[in-house]
Amino acid sequence: MRKVQITETVLRDANQSLMATRLPYKDYEGILPTMDQAGYYSVECWGGATFDSCLRYLNEDPWERLRNLRKNLPNSKLQMLLRGQNLLGYKHYHDDVVEKFIELSIKNGIDIIRIFDALNDFRNLETALAATQKYATPNTIASGCISYTQSPVHTVEKYVKMCKELKTMGFQTICLKDMAGTMTPYEAEHLIKGIKDAVGDIPLILHTHSTTGMAYMTLIKAIECGIDVIDTAASCFSGGTSQPSTETMFYTMQQYGIETGLDEAKINEVNEYFKPVKQKYIDNGMINPKSLATDAQALVYKVPGGMLSNMIANLTDMKAMDKFDAALEEIPKVRADLGYPPLVTPLSQMVGNQAVTNVLVGQRYKQISKEVKNYIKGEYGIAPAPVNKELQVQVLGEGVQPIDCRTEDQKRTGEEFKEAAAALGDLARSEEDIMSYICFPDQTVKFLENRKAQEENEAVYTIEEM
Ligand code: CO
Repeated sequence: MRKVQITETVLRDANQSLMATRLPYKDYEGILPTMDQAGYYSVECWGGATFDSCLRYLNEDPWERLRNLRKNLPNSKLQMLLRGQNLLGYKHYHDDVVEKFIELSIKNGIDIIRIFDALNDFRNLETALAATQKYATPNTIASGCISYTQSPVHTVEKYVKMCKELKTMGFQTICLKDMAGTMTPYEAEHLIKGIKDAVGDIPLILHTHSTTGMAYMTLIKAIECGIDVIDTAASCFSGGTSQPSTETMFYTMQQYGIETGLDEAKINEVNEYFKPVKQKYIDNGMINPKSLATDAQALVYKVPGGMLSNMIANLTDMKAMDKFDAALEEIPKVRADLGYPPLVTPLSQMVGNQAVTNVLVGQRYKQISKEVKNYIKGEYGIAPAPVNKELQVQVLGEGVQPIDCRTEDQKRTGEEFKEAAAALGDLARSEEDIMSYICFPDQTVKFLENRKAQEENEAVYTIEEM
């Protein structure tokens, strides 16, 4: 019997996409024992923006959250999303930091590490992969992830080549990550057939978003063409900028006689649990109804939904919304000039901001952001296609080439741990605290100071009560 398994995303990507990752642990703790019995391939519950959000907005220790997830989901595979050499932040970290982060992630309970690089420059996955292999338990899976995008240089052949490379590197599964939800059924068919023909023995996963309305059609095509795992979210947290719905895909596959391993009663119970949770965040405005709707505009400009709402916010701030259409049309130009980077964090912001600047200044590249300059220098990795020659000369100078090694090979110090430990002093109690500080220094100091103050208060109460 054909089997297609499900990764449930409600604890990570679904709430990241619909409500900016503001779902606190306490809101879902009660349903974890049921989720543990639902029969998912994995529960995506950590990484991505959850780490930052825990420290910045939720006053939660992300490591403690992970240990609690581990305790309450003892039979499930816990999955995280990792931005390769960027870990969960927005810059490249040194190899020893990356290695330690992965060691701690596995130690605190992670099973599956899905690792991607915004530019699909796989040199940026090597350290994370090696660390995952080094600290692997029998349950650990290193999943190599491709940022999916469309452009003249992103052909089926190119994606097949990437998959072969990920397999050769030693990844155990491969994930196609369609962050903008722009993969069409036609593309899924050709892509997955091509990949299955070339590397058929390695499990293939499709991650997409319902943003443009393509996702259900694309998933069905993917299932027809041999996909092994799909990402979905409990139905009340599905649709719009989130994933397609778990139950809907379950009933669809059931009719086709495809085994999912899911327990029908349990997945419905999970959805029932989350209904009032979702309602709470609709009522307090955290879930914007816009994010629940279908918006096919992304198919015109190949721009993810989040990038559009960012642009609208920026232009509104600058009282320049009349330039919106011009800025939107400028995006494909900028993207082509930069060698067609996939529009995923941080490239989506960089390309979007440069397009807005070009339009507002009224002249292309008269002002270039520091980030775009660093990108052209090669600090983010190798661009999918060559950068526009004139633009490269303008930034680097005549005859100067982008760097051809990883940036951290140039900037390595190896002193972060000592420096971070010294900076935190007695605020730090564990390697995890120090790691949080290296990733998000300001937020972590604030969190640890809060924790200390809270404990001192509690100590005072205890003494008074005695
Ligand atoms: Co996603």
